Amino acid sequence: MAQVKKTPALLSALLADTYALYLKTQNYHWNVTGPNFFSLHNLFDGQYNELAEAVDEIAERIRALGELAPGSFKDFSRLMSVSEAKTKTNALGMVNDLIKTHEAICKSISQIIEQTRKENDEGTQDLLINRLAAHEKMAWMLRSHL
Ligand SMILES: [Fe+2]
Repeated sequence: MAQVKKTPALLSALLADTYALYLKTQNYHWNVTGPNFFSLHNLFDGQYNELAEAVDEIAERIRALGELAPGSFKDFSRLMSVSEAKTKTNALGMVNDLIKTHEAICKSISQIIEQTRKENDEGTQDLLINRLAAHEKMAWMLRSHL
């Protein structure tokens, strides 16, 4: 009997986390204030757009693996493990929170890559390696604002 693959379920959790980070980044794009307003407002703009595309890619990979992609706030809140946007925080708190969230997602991605190795799923590995590099780049850009 064929082994049940764990990757689609792990990708569903990554989809929820990526969506949560997308929404959090957009929230901070809207609500950031202070002397760095313009540069952070623009930085967050570029990053939430990147994350929106990533959400689509991850969902379509889940479909390519033969499973349904979750796509409701109810599903996402059940599946996600990163925190939602802080309601009362300044620009520095927003940047720090985003860095922490990118780091947490990088950790999850590394774990999913391990699983794809066990399942010889090179197509998903390729997607995940690109996602890892993208999160590392976004975290670096955020860190450069500290
Ligand atoms: Fe905007």
